[in-house]
Amino acid sequence: MNAFPTSASSAPAVQSVSDGLRGTRAPAPGALGVARPRIEGADKVTGRVRYAADQPMSDLAHGWVVTSTVSRGRIRDIDTSAALAMPGVLGVIDHRTAPRLNPRAAGLYGPDDGLQLLQDEVIAHAGRPVALVVAETPEQARAAALALSVSYDEEPHDTDFSLDHPAARPVAVRPTLPLFDEDANVGDADAELAASAVVVDERYRTPEMHAGAMEPHSTTAWWEDGRLQVIDCNQGPFLIAQMLATLFSLDPKQVRVRAEHVGGGFGSKTLIGPHQILAVMATTLFQRPVRVTLTRSQVFQTIAMRPATDQRMRIGADADGRLRAIDHTPAFELSKLTEYIEYCTELTKTLYAATAIRTRLTAVPLDILPPFSVRGPGAAPGSFALESAMDEVAERLGMDPLELRLHNEPAVGPVSGLPFSRRNLVACLREGARRFGWAGRDHRPRTRREGHLLVGTGLAATSFMAGAFPSSASITAETDGTYTVAIGASDIGTGARTALTAVAADALRVDPGRIRLVIADSDLGPAWVAGGSRGTTSWSWAITEAAHKLLAARSDDPTLPLTVSAETRESLGKVSRMERHSYSAVFAEVTVDPATGEVRVRRLLGMFAVGRVVNPLLARSQAVGGMVTGLSMALHEEGVRDPVTGRNVNGDFAGYHIAAHADVPDVEADFVPDYEPGDPSGIKGVGEIGAVGTSAAIANAVWHATGRRHRTLPIRPDRVLEERPER
Ligand code: MOS
Repeated sequence: MNAFPTSASSAPAVQSVSDGLRGTRAPAPGALGVARPRIEGADKVTGRVRYAADQPMSDLAHGWVVTSTVSRGRIRDIDTSAALAMPGVLGVIDHRTAPRLNPRAAGLYGPDDGLQLLQDEVIAHAGRPVALVVAETPEQARAAALALSVSYDEEPHDTDFSLDHPAARPVAVRPTLPLFDEDANVGDADAELAASAVVVDERYRTPEMHAGAMEPHSTTAWWEDGRLQVIDCNQGPFLIAQMLATLFSLDPKQVRVRAEHVGGGFGSKTLIGPHQILAVMATTLFQRPVRVTLTRSQVFQTIAMRPATDQRMRIGADADGRLRAIDHTPAFELSKLTEYIEYCTELTKTLYAATAIRTRLTAVPLDILPPFSVRGPGAAPGSFALESAMDEVAERLGMDPLELRLHNEPAVGPVSGLPFSRRNLVACLREGARRFGWAGRDHRPRTRREGHLLVGTGLAATSFMAGAFPSSASITAETDGTYTVAIGASDIGTGARTALTAVAADALRVDPGRIRLVIADSDLGPAWVAGGSRGTTSWSWAITEAAHKLLAARSDDPTLPLTVSAETRESLGKVSRMERHSYSAVFAEVTVDPATGEVRVRRLLGMFAVGRVVNPLLARSQAVGGMVTGLSMALHEEGVRDPVTGRNVNGDFAGYHIAAHADVPDVEADFVPDYEPGDPSGIKGVGEIGAVGTSAAIANAVWHATGRRHRTLPIRPDRVLEERPER
């Protein structure tokens, strides 16, 4: 047999990648760029795949989480007697009986006291787990959990967030990964603002938002031959295994985590949470497999949310629309338990040229659930402020908001001074404007009416950081001409499994039908998570390197199976520092009913530059899903906290509104030809950029329709309603 198969898929590549490549060879047409449905799609829609909570298991016990009803204080007592006497109950774990955890266990931002569950009587936020009841069935565990009597010594709490909070301070840490840079301080922002012909100086606010993944978090853990086995739903099994090993002071080789199918994550399944920690505690204490599945309400109370933000944005411009200064001070709420950075300044530092750019990320520690990355973290709320303010600059200049953006296109990174690897924002703006029909728009507000409805359009420009993190992959060339490709990736519903199969086929120059992809198992070795929009790039890099090694090695005896592995840390280290981002331009048309305050999005169009598109069907689905997220952020989503109790009061899908089918119009997403020269496959990442920019585009359209600015999300009917009676 031919050891160097060259037969490529006959399907044509749908995307031209040859234009303007900077000295990088255009890849030969192959398995990349071909629209294919998800490999596991039919199994999913016919109910054949098993999610974490569906796995049948003998001798399985069930844990039910009990959470704190107070926002701050100490547990005075937990009376377990009634619960322990109930049918099927195996026991109760609380701070008096829980296994001791490693106090130095860290998250992505250093030491993380949020992980230290059931270690003492201190309550740091409402919804903090205080006990786990373990029983033979979930129903018995729930009944006993309801019978548990927990009393508290309550202390005054502080959940009242604002940029002006006395505890507001600069961010204290950097993440352990090179995800974010320091604050920017280029030029003299104060002097440039003073010299500007127009200055916008406004506050923009976004609420707490919850990831809302369809599958609630669930973990099943058991000990087998001295190894901790975990069936889980997460965004990266290797990271989860590592964190569990550290937290429980185990040898990392002792922990195996699998997550074969995951029903969405949106950031909320990146790090370990109470379901994993408590399941491991329970199986260790009761020596039986234990499953802990959170209820929808418990997901809201115990799984990290996007923090609320309160952002001061000042932009100064000359009369011709040239930006003199961007001065962005975003505050985000933080828990006192854990560091985290809601990186709202990402776009501020890269999207536009300005003589001066200053950013001051500000944290406000409160008695709340520790926040973490959710759906375009930082960029989504940050771009709402930046792209709303840019629209306000255009308004004050009487300028086309599209022209204002084109006018301030930077030649190099405006803060970093680094070259852009490939910057296709202008192509997105121009092609989007053409398809949307932007030309001829009357830029004055409140000029379009259809019957009783006000009609408006708006746009936003967007970027999202791109890159790759170290990962490892192995490939076995089987003797039957097929290839087994193994990588510790997680497919959280994005289609990663299908995309990586195409990447492997392309790199091995075979038809995807000859690839068997094995993923979602920590035993497959270190791999980056499905997060930071770097899943596909990181995993593809490792697969491509392994494929190249295999093709080079496959010269002697093709009748024997051959396995090669690759680890990308070294090659990633050789990549020169550049500004690497995906780009998009989002256009929205809305109608507003001034009598009811109802905003309806009528059209949404996004043009994206995300590097080479691995699979247009899946990439489009990812982009459209992101834009629906942005629509939902603009109009619906809001975690509401009761100031008296400090508790989230709408923690379920009845109270926490997410855009449903009837809210979503025909959304169009498409891609301009693009190619990332700093990536072996030319790809950037399409994971989160769709969720960024849309909320500002919609808010700008609402202004265009009504003449009123909405600087606080969501744009609820009560905030839009006109002619409201005096209260
Ligand atoms: Mo994403 S919020 O980085 O999983």
